[in-house]
Amino acid sequence: MISNRLQNIVDLVVEDNNIADIGSDHGYVLISLRNKGFKSKLLGVENKLAPFKNLENNLKENKINNVDVSLSDGLQKVPSDYKTIIIAGMGFETIQKIIEESKQSIDNIDYFIIDSHTSFQKVRPYFISLGFIIDEEKIIYEDSIYYQLIRFKKDNVKREYTKAELAYGPLNIKRKDNMFKDFIRNEISQKMTIIDKIPSTNEKALKLKSEIKELEELL
Ligand SMILES: C[S@@+](CC[C@H](N)C(=O)[O-])C[C@H]1O[C@@H](n2cnc3c(N)ncnc32)[C@H](O)[C@@H]1O
Repeated sequence: MISNRLQNIVDLVVEDNNIADIGSDHGYVLISLRNKGFKSKLLGVENKLAPFKNLENNLKENKINNVDVSLSDGLQKVPSDYKTIIIAGMGFETIQKIIEESKQSIDNIDYFIIDSHTSFQKVRPYFISLGFIIDEEKIIYEDSIYYQLIRFKKDNVKREYTKAELAYGPLNIKRKDNMFKDFIRNEISQKMTIIDKIPSTNEKALKLKSEIKELEELL
């Protein structure tokens, strides 16, 4: 049984096109896609030996012999016919570095499925700047952490997003489901904890108060 976070990443894959999972590690996303009946090519990429071996072993244990693996860095050895790229469970800086180092390959990619574990506010603006739109998104809560999972789709039509949409997601804001509301309340509570520790007239406190007001408007 894969985790809720990984299951939601699998569910974000919409098209049966060739999929590369960068930083595949345990390989559970690829194993689940294959077991679910995905017919196209699947590729697991790892740049470190121990997780690469983990990937190979798990594929073997699950009797999956039609997933390719590559011990390589980021997108550098991903063939151009891989149209969906999953990058999950990494910090934003690593994700950005992987892409910046292979900027020329971006033209071949139709979808990115991203689960950044840091700096979530930077994720949407970055992929939009690369010519993608926000196609689907979800917030999930696992092991006391909120994760924002986002599917970006290549689109030449430029779409304008508000500051709040870029940070918290246009679809999340529109849907306002309970998970989104819990996430926003958690953001507010984190900011309040900081405010409680600093003088109320401090510039940082004033900025945080204004951010809290903006967050409350999203609820
Ligand atoms: C925390 S694990 C996440 C595993 C899985 N994607 C998930 O979401 O559960 C991050 C993995 O990314 C791999 N990784 C980090 N930078 C990478 C890069 N530039 N190219 C390929 N793999 C990378 C690490 O070796 C590690 O196994």
